[in-house]
Amino acid sequence: MNILILGAGGREHALAWKLAASPLTDRLYCAPGNAGVAQEAECVAIDNGDHQAVVAFCKARAIDFVVVGPEIPLVAGLVDDLEAAGIRAFGPSRAAARLEGSKRFAKDLCRANNIPTAAYESFTAAAPAKAYARRAGAPIVVKANGLAAGKGVVVAKTPAEAEAAIDMMFGGALGEAGTAVVVEEFLTGEEASFFVLCDGDSVVPLAAAQDHKRAFDGDDGPNTGGMGAYSPAPVITPEIERRALDEIVLPTVRAMKAMGTPYRGVLYAGLMITGEGPKLVEYNVRFGDPECQVLMLRLMSDLLPALIAARDGVLKNFALRWYSQAALTVVMAAKGYPGNYVKGSEIVGLAEAAKVEGVEIFHAGTRRENGRILANGGRVLNVCALGNTVREAQARAYEAVDKIKWPEGFCRRDIGFRAVERRK
Ligand code: AMP
Ligand code: GLY
Repeated sequence: MNILILGAGGREHALAWKLAASPLTDRLYCAPGNAGVAQEAECVAIDNGDHQAVVAFCKARAIDFVVVGPEIPLVAGLVDDLEAAGIRAFGPSRAAARLEGSKRFAKDLCRANNIPTAAYESFTAAAPAKAYARRAGAPIVVKANGLAAGKGVVVAKTPAEAEAAIDMMFGGALGEAGTAVVVEEFLTGEEASFFVLCDGDSVVPLAAAQDHKRAFDGDDGPNTGGMGAYSPAPVITPEIERRALDEIVLPTVRAMKAMGTPYRGVLYAGLMITGEGPKLVEYNVRFGDPECQVLMLRLMSDLLPALIAARDGVLKNFALRWYSQAALTVVMAAKGYPGNYVKGSEIVGLAEAAKVEGVEIFHAGTRRENGRILANGGRVLNVCALGNTVREAQARAYEAVDKIKWPEGFCRRDIGFRAVERRK
């Protein structure tokens, strides 16, 4: 089969690495990809926002299956446009992608189906939103309804912070995303990322993972897209997984089907494991980044038949096999990320680092120029490793990190600390 992956990050490099290993794959393309993806796939310069250009490429190259990595093209209806042109694609339709594209939609679905989540109200004007936040008291969480590239969630420690966030969003700082706002209860507990493949009806749970969203050691500093991840997630016990499926994921899948907008693709439930059990923090309609990287390292089965089965509605009784080993990834980012950073600095030593036992390096934001690898984004590299324990995977990943010469980059030195401490 000829396959096209859409996206440019570490998630897409990991997907390309896994799909390139499938005996079913003939030609593998990625648009736009990066310097790491280019080791696995032919990178093509197509803008994912130009749906007709994607369709035209698929027809010209006889693409049999498209895998959409990021949320923006999903929420914009790329899968609908591909399918309408007769091209099979993995990922939810525009209507189903509202689970991520509209926080209000996801919360209202939870309320209507008794799915455990933070208490909330949604608003289209600042004054009632502020009145609700004042009544509820701090800490409280303010969320823009639409996609906001990671800037749409403010965890307010004081009522003044909540009011400032509400003003910021309704003031237009996040554009369209902020024309509606959800104000919700602050949940306490440990967070985990739970993934399932879904074919509209049936689900196949994938491994769980935990990521580190804050920029600095000790889960300190600004929120980021994710500075590292590991799998399995010790907090997701078999009992928690069963509850997450029965109380959160399956009622959602049933509700989406009943609304006439069945969910197909990977569903990523961001969970808070509270004293009362798992509660939904948010849905994402795609693989997590960098969680995907650790899932792909642990997946023993061929990924491609699973993605096709999800698209074709035949996931029932589908089983995936996983390595029992742990996987961990350390994100190397450009200094200044998630704020301002410079692009174009040179990275040296990747080949040496990749020789460390169990290590696989995925590129998140790089480009190749005259044989040199240059940083080309905020999050730049994912240094991943398998190990018999999280501690061993962590040691291997940092051994590889230390062989990479990139003075303009930084990483956290404590990825996986909760899992390592738990096992002491
Ligand atoms: P994002 O991935 O940018 O949507 O970030 C959302 C992050 O904000 C989550 O990973 C949580 O750490 C935090 N968060 C969101 N909603 C809540 C909530 N209701 N209670 C506590 N933390 C939350
Ligand atoms: N790692 C968090 C996300 O992909 O949204």
